[in-house]
Amino acid sequence: MRLRRLQLKNHRNYAQLELVPGPSLNVFIGANGQGKTNLLEAVAMLALSASPRARRESELVGPIGPGSRIEAAVETGALRREIAITLAVEGERTRRVIEVDGARRRAVDLPGHFRVALFWPDDLGLIKAGPELRRRFLNQMLVQVEPGYARALAGLRRVLEQRNSLLKQIAAGQAGNGGQGVLDAWNKELVQVGSEIAAARARAVLELAPEAARCHAEIASGERLEIRYEGPPENLAEAVNNSLAEDLRRGSTSVGPHRDDLVVLLEGREARSYGSQGQQRTAVVSLKLAEAAVIQARTGERPVLLLDDVLSELDGERRAALLAEVAAGGQVIITAVEAGPFPPDLIAKAMVWTVAEGKIEACG
Ligand SMILES: Nc1ncnc2c1ncn2[C@@H]1O[C@H](COP(=O)(O)OP(=O)(O)OP(=O)(O)O)[C@@H](O)[C@H]1O
Ligand SMILES: [Mg+2]
Repeated sequence: MRLRRLQLKNHRNYAQLELVPGPSLNVFIGANGQGKTNLLEAVAMLALSASPRARRESELVGPIGPGSRIEAAVETGALRREIAITLAVEGERTRRVIEVDGARRRAVDLPGHFRVALFWPDDLGLIKAGPELRRRFLNQMLVQVEPGYARALAGLRRVLEQRNSLLKQIAAGQAGNGGQGVLDAWNKELVQVGSEIAAARARAVLELAPEAARCHAEIASGERLEIRYEGPPENLAEAVNNSLAEDLRRGSTSVGPHRDDLVVLLEGREARSYGSQGQQRTAVVSLKLAEAAVIQARTGERPVLLLDDVLSELDGERRAALLAEVAAGGQVIITAVEAGPFPPDLIAKAMVWTVAEGKIEACG
């Protein structure tokens, strides 16, 4: 998998950018607030169809006009494709148009055309924050490798919305005679789509675990990282049935894959409470490198690795081990505030760029 060319128009602080990255390591150096994360965000959107961080799509649009465009030529095996994402702000709404080779695609159909494994500082929440970010981590990988997963996720979102609103209506006595029948239908849908998502996540975690452990041990001189999936009850139909009274009382759905978690242990103890800052960071990076390995194993092709400010907080030994792991193959886009931490022999092999005020220039 390779990003051949990237063009940005009015994307965040990039008024106009044209970038042709190299086939292996690409290092982007820039001070705070210059556009490093904005660049990686644009590349990630080509794989995920939406920004993994923006709360509102209109945030992505720069000051020059009411619209923005991300355009790229990507290469999968021998195949070349053009992907474009156009945003148009229309009052309160932002319209998004996705095109692959000039033909319009729905957002759920974009993932799979281009694949990335992304690490950025927000991801530290993977260990520190609640389970939502850990589910998002699994989702981000699975939409890229498992056909139908993006649709299943959209289906789950719809079921939860509809079922929760119906639960509230029934509890308030406003659902009428047909309420129970409709609820049965949503229960069935929840069990069906929920089982599909849980099975996909369980398989993914089994594949991620050994690779994450290997990377972590490699970077952290032998430290033991374990991950375990905590999914919905084995018999989801029964659990949904048993929770009905509780769900009606709360007006929300208490069992299903929207409550899943991924347990992360360092040396057998909760990474969240026992891991130091650097240990947690190493664990998150290892999970992301494992994601890249699983994507490669599933699709036969290494995804583009996007690593935002990955070296800070790591000691020299961990940095060296991480960079060795990262430079092992495939296209990598890595950012940093300064070149200092990169070993000279690595820089010699890399394409190095500087980022300043939404402009990127090749270095040396
Ligand atoms: N829609 C937008 N229009 C214009 N500028 C924006 C928009 N959204 C964000 N920016 C600006 O883009 C600049 C660069 O942000 P970015 O997060 O890429 O910085 P960075 O180089 O990653 O910095 P750091 O090293 O601090 O992480 C910020 O100053 C931010 O205010
Ligand atoms: Mg940044």
